[in-house]
Amino acid sequence: MKTSYDVLIIGTGIAGLSAALALPKSLNVLLISKDYAWECNTFYAQGGVAVARDDADVALHVKDTLEAGAGHCNLEAVKVLCSEGSLAISRLIERGFLFDADEAGNLLYTKEAAHSTNRILHAGGDATGRYIHLFLMQQLPFPILYNTQVTDLLIEKNECFGARVFHNNKTFNLYAKKVIIASGGVGSLYEYHTNARTISADMQGICLSHGIKLDDMEMMQFHPTVFVLGKSVRKQLLSESLRGEGAMVVDEDGKRFTFEYDPRGELAPRDVVSRAIFKHKQKTGKEIFLDLSAFSPEHFKERFPSIYFNMNNMGYAVPTQRVPISPAFHYSMGGIKTDLHGHVLHVKDLYAVGECAHTGVHGANRLASNSLLEGLVFSARVAKEIVQTIEQEKARHLFVEEEEELIKENDKVLKNELRDLMWCYAGILRDQEGLKKACKRVEEMLQLPIGKLLKLRLLVSKEIITSALKREESLGAHYLTERK
Ligand code: SIN
Repeated sequence: MKTSYDVLIIGTGIAGLSAALALPKSLNVLLISKDYAWECNTFYAQGGVAVARDDADVALHVKDTLEAGAGHCNLEAVKVLCSEGSLAISRLIERGFLFDADEAGNLLYTKEAAHSTNRILHAGGDATGRYIHLFLMQQLPFPILYNTQVTDLLIEKNECFGARVFHNNKTFNLYAKKVIIASGGVGSLYEYHTNARTISADMQGICLSHGIKLDDMEMMQFHPTVFVLGKSVRKQLLSESLRGEGAMVVDEDGKRFTFEYDPRGELAPRDVVSRAIFKHKQKTGKEIFLDLSAFSPEHFKERFPSIYFNMNNMGYAVPTQRVPISPAFHYSMGGIKTDLHGHVLHVKDLYAVGECAHTGVHGANRLASNSLLEGLVFSARVAKEIVQTIEQEKARHLFVEEEEELIKENDKVLKNELRDLMWCYAGILRDQEGLKKACKRVEEMLQLPIGKLLKLRLLVSKEIITSALKREESLGAHYLTERK
């Protein structure tokens, strides 16, 4: 196998695949997938892709994104996202991708919470991510190295030369002129989450171990409507578009209580609805449900076929039967700090894009369905930047191929403890006392004889906790309470 490439892309979700597709076919590109290529968050994205409907809507999309982000967004990044969004969508459509449309071919737009208008495109009803992922995979002109764990980045004097990987029971170096990290977020750090099982913060941890800055790591998003009772690690998301089209959040007495917490009720930004559910449950001890009675069975089955199928499989006759819900971890607004071209600050030839990256576009709370759009828009920028700056020849700096023990015997028990710790103390509601307790325990775990992968998770968890400790006022998804 070749060990030297022009571009190495770590991750095969929307950001990694779109970056690859935007690069010239003449380049020597390799994508790395930790598992199957579809084990990524893109594949499980339901609701859709937000996009300004016309020029006049760009300013409104900017405004909605800033408001959902609780005033913490980087305005320039938001302007890039909203103004370049429609071009990114047009490119996808020109390639042949089919978003859901009516019989006359007009695109169908739905609404999700905190959007002031219907601007969410979808595909396969509620299978937008899966459809886009399959489409991008079919178009991909470059090879993918599957079942490959990245164990380190090859960085010397603030320049990236490639990545060290573990594949087929061997550790070896893959050299590249440019490296793009597109590895997704941090879902596996939390007890309850909606993420693919591969999403475990490895690359964020590797960045920390090289002194690369992560930003806003206290900003973790919890999706309000998740069925968490199933046995699988990834919990079943119940798309926000259900609420956008009439689903109601009720308690066990059928009371629509979210209006007691915010006048926008179920359509308030995600962090607000998540907290309303969490607090109502704490206050009343009552179970919370998603009531789908606004939908006829025929329409529901056609519009939300995946949710229909999955929930029926788990014994819920939707839409007739209501579904018990809880908020669960969904998305990391924080990430590897980059500029607006995806360049990782202070490291030459290293880029990050998609959920793993931090441009500040999502602020303190991501607006629904802005993440697939982010993957499309910013990956095109990264590819453009790479084409403009890639060198003909890059002096190769050789790195020792160190064998590292990735997993040790007791790691599983500690990983589970960590998930519980993060859920309880760095979750939806936080307080200084709980955060300090979690920090102390994470520091203790870091001193134990553990494998490298757990160490990376712990480093990122510590970053989330210490960032949360530093932010002493509530903001967006970071919400502090007084301990009772
Ligand atoms: C959803 O369908 O509710 C998820 C959309 C998103 O995370 O943006």
